[in-house]
Amino acid sequence: MRPVAFITLIFAAEFAAAAGLGGGAAPVDVPDTMAERVKPCIACHGPEDRTGRDGYYPRIASKPEGYLFNQLRNFRDGRRYYRPMALLLADVSDQYLLEMAAYFSALKQPYPPPEHMSASPDEIRLAQQLINRGDPSRKIPACVQCHGKELMGTAPFIPGLLGLPRAYLVAQFGAWRTGGLMRGQAPNCMSEIAKQLTPGETNAIAAWLAAQPVPEDAAPVTALSAEMARRCESIVQRGGAQAEPGG
Ligand code: HEC
Ligand code: HEC
Repeated sequence: MRPVAFITLIFAAEFAAAAGLGGGAAPVDVPDTMAERVKPCIACHGPEDRTGRDGYYPRIASKPEGYLFNQLRNFRDGRRYYRPMALLLADVSDQYLLEMAAYFSALKQPYPPPEHMSASPDEIRLAQQLINRGDPSRKIPACVQCHGKELMGTAPFIPGLLGLPRAYLVAQFGAWRTGGLMRGQAPNCMSEIAKQLTPGETNAIAAWLAAQPVPEDAAPVTALSAEMARRCESIVQRGGAQAEPGG
């Protein structure tokens, strides 16, 4: 086990400072747990927010740990841009980010109900084709090759694709395509695929994915083919090298 108490103590001070939470003036009767520490995060990432007015906030509970860690570093280091999170995470160390990633990855929250299907029959066929078979003529692999055959992700670095709002999926594809909001190191396996897809294709995929129910026993798979791992080398290595000291 990691020295969790020590880590959360440092986390408390640094996080409070980073978040402008009043530093040492923390109330004495609040238990010093990760659940307390991540309350500012829950304000935006709680399960209610997903289906509330602002469907854009992604669910983070139970996503693969390495993926969450990579994203937190992307926000902190300006490779993925969302100002409130950049401010919250400024100066937070890798070790804290790893702790938060572990916490949210282990957190179980109910998934939202599927969205209403907004794609036409042609779009549904197109989406299913790309998701399950890809497009060999353009060397686009099937989404299931990396995101798992149930589309619930591949631990530890690849997230699931179900239970995400359509608006969020569309926004992510837009960000990858323009490169204006590039996540992680560019190019990487996901940004390359996103750039090959047309807006019509990504809209169809997003509509189809958002309308699928999340399977009961949803869990990421663990095996990634050597070829797909090689494609995603920059993501997998970046996370792997950094994640080691923590676990
Ligand atoms: C003010 C609202 C807000 C707060 C507070 C906030 N987030 Fe976020 N978070 C967002 C939004 C919006 C996005 C999506 C941004 C984007 O896609 O560019 C996001 C994205 C993420 C992601 C990436 C999810 C994915 O699937 O790629 C992670 C991980 C995350 N937040 C963790 C946290 C943690 C941990 C905290 C607390 C330290 C936190 N957030 C605080 C709004 C917030
Ligand atoms: C070669 C492997 C690979 C293939 C094939 C692939 N992806 Fe990905 N995808 C990834 C990786 C790796 C990430 C995590 C990127 C990161 O860390 O920023 C990702 C992330 C995503 C995300 C972000 C999810 C979130 O929670 O923010 C979406 C959406 C996505 N992929 C959709 C797709 C779709 C749709 C397809 C099929 C058209 C696809 N991917 C095919 C590797 C792949």
